[in-house]
Amino acid sequence: MAVEASAPGKAILFGEHSVVYRGPSVVLAIDKRARVIAEERSDNKIFINAEDIGFSGYFLGDRYHPRRGEAWRGRRLAAFNVAARRTMEHLGVGSGLDLIVRSEIPIAVGLGSSAAISVATVAAVGSLLGGGLSKEEICSLAYEGEKVVHGTPSGVDNNISTYGGILRYERDVGFERFEVDGSPPFVVGNTRRKRSTRRMVDIVRALRDRNTEVVDNMIDALGNISQEGLTALLEANLTRLGDLMNINHGFLAALGVSSPELDMMVHASRRAGALGAKLTGAGGGGCMIALAEDSCLKRVEDAIREVRGVPIRVKVSYEGVETRGIS
Ligand code: MEV
Repeated sequence: MAVEASAPGKAILFGEHSVVYRGPSVVLAIDKRARVIAEERSDNKIFINAEDIGFSGYFLGDRYHPRRGEAWRGRRLAAFNVAARRTMEHLGVGSGLDLIVRSEIPIAVGLGSSAAISVATVAAVGSLLGGGLSKEEICSLAYEGEKVVHGTPSGVDNNISTYGGILRYERDVGFERFEVDGSPPFVVGNTRRKRSTRRMVDIVRALRDRNTEVVDNMIDALGNISQEGLTALLEANLTRLGDLMNINHGFLAALGVSSPELDMMVHASRRAGALGAKLTGAGGGGCMIALAEDSCLKRVEDAIREVRGVPIRVKVSYEGVETRGIS
């Protein structure tokens, strides 16, 4: 008996960095998913086979033993080991596990691949060994794994991967879910340059320490942009949504978190007819996201390719975590 679970990745539409201080941020689940197949083993290893993203190996306790790929990969894979172990502790069971990971979400470029794998891991292990967990349980157990790798993340990634859809997150308010009919057409552009979220957050913090009043005013403005952007999204006002994405990118560039590659993709997309384009996530590399009418999606994709980015067409996905038994 094996169980397969899948969970979506995410793209931040508005509010990255400003959400570290206040927010809100507006985050979309995207129709690119991570899948985890869980099976019991007769020993007590947690064997993680992620061959299609380049590595495999096993954990005995907290220690990682690589089979393919470098040993340092264990630092990232630790999130899935912890997510699986916390799930077993929660259920009061113990077992070795084979976890086969397959993902359509590029890794370490701000599209939430790690949280999607953690969420799918918890759901698969929970269903395999305990007959199923609630979404609340899945979300909070996956967060335990995320904390090991990312310090104290906001929790946006595990929430969006668990529930899907559109999420508004504000530090003092928490999470709110929204739905719209269908999805505006988005193209993500991947620089393929991995970046450290922590480093980018530190860049903004240092700028704010030196220029507190100016940066605080920008953070307030970014909060307004997010709120107006959410309204434009819910009203399907694509022209305004695009304007607000463009304005948001300008602020993020001013905060020092864009990069020449991101700027090139943003400007190439706009020249190709995108209604709006901005970096998404921590910046410094990673990805941008463009909003384009159906008629010019192909031109935007070509424009991203011409400046050496990898375009990925995405839609908002309302399918959160899903689990099915396989034989
Ligand atoms: C990174 O995906 C988003 C940031 O706002 C950091 C965070 O919210 O934890 C840059």
